[in-house]
Amino acid sequence: MLLGIASPYKLKVRADKFLQVSRLIKQRRYAKEACDRGYVFINGKRAKPSEEVRPGDRITLDLPSGRVEVEVLEVPDGKSVSKEKSAKLYRVIGMPSAPSSLYNISMTRDQALALIKSSVPNKNLVKHMIACAACMRAMALRHGYDPDRWELAGLLHDLDVAETSEDFAKHGIVAVQRLRAMGFGDEEVLNAILAHAEKKPLETPMERALYAVDPTTGFIVACALMHPTKTLAGLDLEFLKKRFKERRFAAGASREQMASCESLEMSLDEFLTLCLEAMRGVAPELGL
Ligand SMILES: [Fe+2]
Repeated sequence: MLLGIASPYKLKVRADKFLQVSRLIKQRRYAKEACDRGYVFINGKRAKPSEEVRPGDRITLDLPSGRVEVEVLEVPDGKSVSKEKSAKLYRVIGMPSAPSSLYNISMTRDQALALIKSSVPNKNLVKHMIACAACMRAMALRHGYDPDRWELAGLLHDLDVAETSEDFAKHGIVAVQRLRAMGFGDEEVLNAILAHAEKKPLETPMERALYAVDPTTGFIVACALMHPTKTLAGLDLEFLKKRFKERRFAAGASREQMASCESLEMSLDEFLTLCLEAMRGVAPELGL
């Protein structure tokens, strides 16, 4: 038996405990509260905090911050589980096909991509948004939020860059006005766009993630371009960390802003590794 993982004879655990140790919800009391409020479903049925969770069960979290569905792969035995192990206790199935009662996703990734390609003539800026989208998707999965909505925030965040490059005071505001006029109504995504452009304080996890991801993608691209292989595949964490300390390298990428990932309870090492992995997933689109 692996340390901290239940033997085949004890393949069940309380719902609130599973949500906590899997880090789908960070604290036990919030996991209990989510169950009590009716936000948690196991195999389609509303779950009490004491409901038993077994491998193979499907858990749906219909939280005010978004909706996510996972399949339980393993149940923990010990009181604590390492971060690495916690992410292996489940796999994200994704958004259920029925629209959430709380949110209406009014744009697909393809639609958003077509919109930014028609709005932003600079191909490198389009690549920047594709990179941010990939990192935001990975951040959502890491923190237990809806990957589709976080990805949209990354993809759309600089939608107005061509119109506002001379006037930062309008950056973000023009994008939100355009999206609203198109009928896009995901307020959390719109707020993340405003917050990254410093038009509102950073409050939600999505806003904090976008703020940290924004300079990090450019930093990683700069690292790839100066690496002998000129590829993302050639980079590793040590290389990124060395360049991070060289303040004159990619000086436009604010180290403080990148390090703000710590406000999401992530070390810089984990954050850089996650972003690098996510960008490797879209390397052909980035040409790296
Ligand atoms: Fe950006």
